[in-house]
Amino acid sequence: MYPIENPYPYWGLFLVLCGSCVVLIQFLKPTDLKWSGGTRKWAMPPGPPGLPVLGNLPQMMQARRGAVSLNSWLSYLIQYGEMVTLHMGSQTWVVLNSDRVVSELIAKRGKITNERPHMPIASGLVSNGKRTVIRQEKEWREGRRVMHHLLSGSNLKVYGEMQELESVDMLRRYLREPSLWFSHNYRYSTSVLYRIVMGYPLNKTKAQLDDYQRVTMEFVTSINRSYVDFFPAVTRLPSILQPWRQFWAKMGAFHHHVFQEWWKPIKAAVSNGSAPPSFVRDVLLHPEMRFSGDDEEAMYLATSVMAAGGDNTRMSINTFVMAMVTRPEAQKRAREEVDRVCTDGKSLRLPRIGLALATDRPHYPTPPTHRGPPVRRALHPRGTSFLINSIALSREFDNAHEFQPERWIEGSEAHTTANFWGFGGGRRICVGWKVAEQALYIAFARLLYCFELTPNGPIDDKMLNHQTVNEPFPVKVTVRSPGHAQLIEGEASKYEASFSTFGSTAK
Ligand code: HEM
Repeated sequence: MYPIENPYPYWGLFLVLCGSCVVLIQFLKPTDLKWSGGTRKWAMPPGPPGLPVLGNLPQMMQARRGAVSLNSWLSYLIQYGEMVTLHMGSQTWVVLNSDRVVSELIAKRGKITNERPHMPIASGLVSNGKRTVIRQEKEWREGRRVMHHLLSGSNLKVYGEMQELESVDMLRRYLREPSLWFSHNYRYSTSVLYRIVMGYPLNKTKAQLDDYQRVTMEFVTSINRSYVDFFPAVTRLPSILQPWRQFWAKMGAFHHHVFQEWWKPIKAAVSNGSAPPSFVRDVLLHPEMRFSGDDEEAMYLATSVMAAGGDNTRMSINTFVMAMVTRPEAQKRAREEVDRVCTDGKSLRLPRIGLALATDRPHYPTPPTHRGPPVRRALHPRGTSFLINSIALSREFDNAHEFQPERWIEGSEAHTTANFWGFGGGRRICVGWKVAEQALYIAFARLLYCFELTPNGPIDDKMLNHQTVNEPFPVKVTVRSPGHAQLIEGEASKYEASFSTFGSTAK
């Protein structure tokens, strides 16, 4: 007789658990690390070592807690070569460190690198799957078709008139409330977009504008912030096992609410025939456009264009102010050029002068941009994300750490400057870059013409502090002379009837 008792009662359970762990780990691995039975070898570029399962994800999460640490981490990646592989949870990233590989992969091969990764948090819960900039290609295409009209050269003249008008309002606000210079930058940027997209002067209070800015900032910072976006498979679990959902869904609901408040009156005006010309009336909802999306889609498209355009332009003007206050000699030179070309002291109209873009992009790079699937499947597996490392690209310039805006003068008139990726590239390139360049040009030249910008306390020029509705760094704004003040008030009074009457800063 054999004993009935099993001397190793837990062995079976142990083996099942081990087996499940192996399967789970294999399932969560990025494609290029998955076991393929020896059939496929990916030729991935080198990269820093990471932890099991999480890979390099904790390094990035740690680095992005501050602007300086993020920049240091992006600099640290340069040592691995032109392309660097990072394993981010179950995602594979390839960071592009040179202009050469960005041109090749993002611009020339845009057809196969224009997808976006599936991000259940930033794209799903926070954006209801409808924010164009991170939508996956299938849903993104229709919106992009419609948005193309924003790039049309013939509209630029009309936009230019709006920008001139709104910039006079901005100058008057600078004059009357100089300590709120950062608020005026945002109001100017958003009011231009509001006229273009919605058709009206920006009839919003400071509180409403702050909400809109908060929505955009929350959205931008939600990208790549949650571990869930790096393990999208976990969203297949039952809802009760996804405790993170509530937090992000609440954020998404707030964004939706703010968008609706801005959208509903415009939609009503278009429906009852009282709306003035605008992107919404003449393109998005125009019957000839045959936009296939529903009302929600249209709302997200219009408000996304406004948010993308308003906030990026705001940050660029703030960057310009930073450059000017920390480099007084550059401010002086730029002002001399503006004065030389346009000063008869009577008008704020500016001829198109060769004023160097006063922000020197190599010095103030934008964060990396997300990208999707394969370059060549023989090299990178489907689903690889390609990211532009703007810090690495900046280092390719001579005197990379010097503020030399002159480096951008060549060839900036007709198309975005070669080697400049601040607007992204390929098929997803910013639809508003021409509008943006013109808006910035007008704002920079007019601000320089009318005001002296100086530090109002200690400033660290690496801390742009973009994600705040308060003053990002201390600046003193002084009108150049009583004559300049008179000029601003005089010009503003001519346009009084066209300005928005809203926006008293106390509200
Ligand atoms: C200095 C100002 C601006 C900067 C730095 C900027 C930068 C960018 C970048 C980096 C992207 C992502 C591109 C990519 O994925 O490759 C983008 C997308 C976008 N931008 Fe801009 N932008 C600016 C101004 C504007 C303006 C004025 C508008 C509107 C008129 C606008 C509308 C958009 C839209 C709608 C997208 C998403 C495009 C899509 O989903 O296909 N941007 N922008």
